[in-house]
Amino acid sequence: MKRIVILISGRGSNMQALVEAGLPVAAVISNRADAGGLAYAAGRGIATAIVPHRNYATREAFDAALAQAIDGFRPDLVVLAGFMRILTDSFVRRYQDHMLNIHPSLLPAFPGLDTHARALAAGVKLHGCSVHFVTAALDHGPIVIQAAVPVLAHDDEARLAARVLAQEHRIYPQAARWFVEGKLVIDSGVVRVMGDHPQQLYAP
Ligand code: GAR
Repeated sequence: MKRIVILISGRGSNMQALVEAGLPVAAVISNRADAGGLAYAAGRGIATAIVPHRNYATREAFDAALAQAIDGFRPDLVVLAGFMRILTDSFVRRYQDHMLNIHPSLLPAFPGLDTHARALAAGVKLHGCSVHFVTAALDHGPIVIQAAVPVLAHDDEARLAARVLAQEHRIYPQAARWFVEGKLVIDSGVVRVMGDHPQQLYAP
């Protein structure tokens, strides 16, 4: 059985979607003791751990402690689910091709924060979310699956965010399942899924 460790910083709704999809989640780790998702994980009998970034003087020291906590659970896959820390290159290298992230935009558009507000300000007509393998460049890396939603005339940030989040909860479990089933192949930076599985979704 493959083992997944999920890293969260807050509410953890994507983590919850992964757990509810029946994926083999060995542990949930947070950099914040007050992350809402920790109570849910504990309630489901999943091991939890907290590695508070404020306890470490440097990113390197924090990432080393985080890696130690992760490796204690012997994961095959590390899943970043709203984990709001910039990772050092050596941490990213350690989990290269074994670490996924979800980002609330159609990458490579809108990396970074405030993606929904920026999408509205840019006037894009399609927005969405992406699951990708993590590389050293923030919110970049081989894309596993994307979901697109329309941007409607009277959208505000909250409405658009909710529409995107509903799709995050669909594509993240799908991507993680493909990984644990050994179906993902990265070929020159492009991810393919073995078998005939669509890597995009449109949710009007
Ligand atoms: C999600 O929308 C996720 O895509 C985003 O944070 C939210 C976490 O929600 N991640 C990023 O912006 C990473 N760059 P959740 O804690 O309920 O899953």
